[in-house]
Amino acid sequence: MGPRSGRGTRILRKQPGRGTISSRERAWVRLSAEIRSCRKCPLGSLRTHAVVYRGSLSPRVVFVGEAPGAEEDRVGLPFVGRSGRELDRAVAQLGLSNAEFGVLNVLKCRPPGNRFDRTAARTCRPYLDRQLALLRPEIVVTLGARALGVLDPSAPPMLRAAGHPRLDRTPAHFPLIHPAAALRSRKMRDRWEIDLRSLARWLSESAT
Ligand code: URA
Repeated sequence: MGPRSGRGTRILRKQPGRGTISSRERAWVRLSAEIRSCRKCPLGSLRTHAVVYRGSLSPRVVFVGEAPGAEEDRVGLPFVGRSGRELDRAVAQLGLSNAEFGVLNVLKCRPPGNRFDRTAARTCRPYLDRQLALLRPEIVVTLGARALGVLDPSAPPMLRAAGHPRLDRTPAHFPLIHPAAALRSRKMRDRWEIDLRSLARWLSESAT
């Protein structure tokens, strides 16, 4: 990726009537196509759709989930089922506009039985790193223990890490429990709400 001043992008080409395309956007399109045609692990032949990303290409915050579920596999977009509706409510509560956030997963293909596949996660990891390098968010919000374990292996266990920024990461991380957990019990719902308020405070304090 070429140098970027502030949050602007280097413009390579103008398309009459179609706006401009930056080198970063072209790299993003290439990477997304690579992910969609990936067959590097057995999950590639089991999926309906590889699930790449939804959201802004210049996000302030990127939410990183675990893996697509049945609905995501069917539609080809991350977090479009029940957990996704909970996540979208959280995003609204945080006051983030559509231009300010994006959502993706560690695994790009649905694992059978929704069981997290560590071998597939190692194979998928370069895609995640390349996505984050192109998106360059200010903050990465990990959702649940799997995303936390993959992106920040030295973090404390989920329930100790959740709700506290991890400032030794670049960009800074903010772990949250998975939205699916918030849907499962009253106790986890309360924890989700408390940690979201901490994130909202931290986002407004760190706004530039
Ligand atoms: N859970 C995840 O971690 N990711 C999705 O895309 C949907 C549910």
